[in-house]
Amino acid sequence: MEKILDLIGSKVVKAFQANGYDEKYGKATLSNRPDLCEYQCNGAMAAAKEYKCAPFMISDKVADSLKGNPMFESVDSVKPGFLNLKLSAEYLAQYLRRMAEDPTRLGCDKCENPKTIMIDYGGPNVAKPLHVGHLRSAIIGESVKRIGTFMGHTMIGDVHLGDWGLQMGLIITELKERKPDLVYFDETYSGEYPQEAPFTIGELEEIYPAASAKSKEDDAYKEAAMQATFELQHGKGGYQALLKHILDVSVSDLKRNYENLGVSFELWKGESDAQPYIPDMVEKMKKDGYAYISEGALVVDVKEDTDTKEIPPCMILKSDGASLYNTTDLATIVWRMKDYQPDEIIYVVDKRQELYFTQVFRCARKTGLVKPETELKFLGFGTMNGKDGKPFKTREGGVMRLEYLVSSINEEMYQKIADNHTVEEEEGRKTAKVVALSAIKYGDLSNQASKDYIFDVERFTSFEGNTGPYILYTIVRIKSILKKYRAQKELPQNAKILAAHSHSEKALMLELCKFNGMMEAAFQETAPHKVCAYIYDLANAFNHFYHETKIMAEQDEMVQAGYICLLDLTRQALELCIETLGFEAPERM
Ligand code: ARG
Repeated sequence: MEKILDLIGSKVVKAFQANGYDEKYGKATLSNRPDLCEYQCNGAMAAAKEYKCAPFMISDKVADSLKGNPMFESVDSVKPGFLNLKLSAEYLAQYLRRMAEDPTRLGCDKCENPKTIMIDYGGPNVAKPLHVGHLRSAIIGESVKRIGTFMGHTMIGDVHLGDWGLQMGLIITELKERKPDLVYFDETYSGEYPQEAPFTIGELEEIYPAASAKSKEDDAYKEAAMQATFELQHGKGGYQALLKHILDVSVSDLKRNYENLGVSFELWKGESDAQPYIPDMVEKMKKDGYAYISEGALVVDVKEDTDTKEIPPCMILKSDGASLYNTTDLATIVWRMKDYQPDEIIYVVDKRQELYFTQVFRCARKTGLVKPETELKFLGFGTMNGKDGKPFKTREGGVMRLEYLVSSINEEMYQKIADNHTVEEEEGRKTAKVVALSAIKYGDLSNQASKDYIFDVERFTSFEGNTGPYILYTIVRIKSILKKYRAQKELPQNAKILAAHSHSEKALMLELCKFNGMMEAAFQETAPHKVCAYIYDLANAFNHFYHETKIMAEQDEMVQAGYICLLDLTRQALELCIETLGFEAPERM
């Protein structure tokens, strides 16, 4: 369904042309003076220069041509040369009725050329607990993925586990100290390794920090861990079997955590999956003359003439021949292209890795790992800070674990709900979980991803203001009116959204009709915050309308039924939007 701005724009363009002016001046935009009009066109100001006359001469003529058009309630030419437009209430109602006829998409067309887009997000490190730094990647990535899916693209999320670093060697070393008799450490053993892991997730989470602390104090220990890492990476059987156990145990724990967050991945690949592709990739880079030895290391130059700051070469292999984070990311591109041929790969990673990704992308392009038209996009996010403006920490100053953060918000939310009214403990807890997730996700997504933001528990969990709970509260309010209405009567057969009867009703309708344009922009700009801004405005417009309108007491059957249709459309728009943000509304709260 055509966007309302385009429909208005095409009428305005015709009016410019009818008066002999170029169509390029006929662009309509949302009004920046909502007190005066709903839409505007400032084209006459620019056209005046070309046609060498006063701008209002042009805007007057265009306005005259537009007058009488059923699309508009009013068209005003205002000095010095603005066109102020108000949509006719009937036209707007018609537009909304068409949206309502399409309940799964509300008139938002799928894109014409669907792409295959891989999205690299989450990025947890195996055996290390998830911390809040991973929260943003998961929340933003999931939303970008859902928005893309809604727009008709094939989105493939890959968690890209950090499963290839020194942490693996540390765990193995610590395990060897604690349980030296395990078969994995027996050099002479040649049989099958056990199916069962020799540790639980609880132990694993305790082993890693213990080993990491020891390695900082004890050089020999660190040396042993590095050696173990090396042996693991070079195929030592017992260690490979341990790696598999570590992965199995961690991944099932990670899955549980992500599930609690409403985050899921199509692929659970890790850095280790890229390793088999490294040797051929490196060989080819050398053969094609891109990779050369500099100070012992193998590098590819990636600087460009137009750079304003220095972009260092991309390092492919260290002087000892070991691969790096870069190498893994490049080899990951190799298998992604081979197995999925994506048109685009989006990386949702901390913005402090931006320079790094510039190097990786340039190197991938230069060495032909991707096609010239393959898009590589870095979506860098800022830091989640505490109220003190410093990275979010526990009260004791330690790294805040994600699980802990989530359960504390759940608790906070439960208290609020229990304070508000009496609920059964079980139902209250369930609702609290749903609302808490909206608080966390909306609190994050309502900020432009690249910005740092302050995670303010007090504010995020509030039922008022620009928060997830406020949005859910609005949805629940609408649902309860709809329920009440349906309990009293059936919606008449010919019920439909009617031309607005009041200013607040029209304001709500004007918000609703932005849906398709907003969703398209949110996808194009990989900007979930646009969805948040839209639903916040929509929720406000609804609540304003609700406070000014006696819906249940309305005497005129058809007017009342029209309200109900409008409410239902509002609910659908809000629910479709929160679905793309990755949370849902409870039935009651
Ligand atoms: N595991 C990394 C970290 O915790 C994030 C991975 C980001 N993705 C990537 N393809 N490098 O910092």
